[in-house]
Amino acid sequence: VTGVVAEDLPGLATRTSPAWALRVLVDPIALLDDHAHLEKKAAGNALDLLARWPQGSLDPEWTRTLSAVARDEAEHLLRVVSLLGRRGGRLSRHHRNTFAAGLRRLVRSGQGPEELTDRLLVSALIEARSAERFSVLAGVAEDRELARLYAGLERSERGHHLRFLALALSLPGARSVPRRWHELLLEESRILAVQPPGPGLHSGEA
Ligand SMILES: [Fe+2]
Ligand SMILES: [Fe+2]
Repeated sequence: VTGVVAEDLPGLATRTSPAWALRVLVDPIALLDDHAHLEKKAAGNALDLLARWPQGSLDPEWTRTLSAVARDEAEHLLRVVSLLGRRGGRLSRHHRNTFAAGLRRLVRSGQGPEELTDRLLVSALIEARSAERFSVLAGVAEDRELARLYAGLERSERGHHLRFLALALSLPGARSVPRRWHELLLEESRILAVQPPGPGLHSGEA
């Protein structure tokens, strides 16, 4: 036990400009399609982590937290695909997210407890950036239905960000979490800065 709680850890190193949001909102169908894929992946990630509980113990909090996150993400997916359908779009077959792929490459794979800590911290980073992007989108969207969607999701993803951090801080390696989180925050801003622009939640600024 370190005494450090999730709320004590710093937030993202960079902020997104309103100009980014105005650019991606030019193509709402493509943005909703990308977004739906991200919610689907987030639900799958939560269920995958649920099955990787720390060795030797099955903490009921672990399964409860990750079940709740998976339920939220499936609910977000339903909201986004419903809106996409009402607007004449449909979920595309394939999706790439080079931002999340770049973050996942930072996971120290095959190193037992470090791998699990990193997976939780990468999940927390994706939640934090998604929430930050939703807040910028909610602030500039003139389309009231979209603005409402993004404002609601911002709150939910912020909650997930804290829940993933809290899970990382509950592991035996919690003492290393603040230092590793700091490293990963810097990596996140580097990875985001090289993303191509386009109608995606994790696209580049220009
Ligand atoms: Fe979500
Ligand atoms: Fe989330």
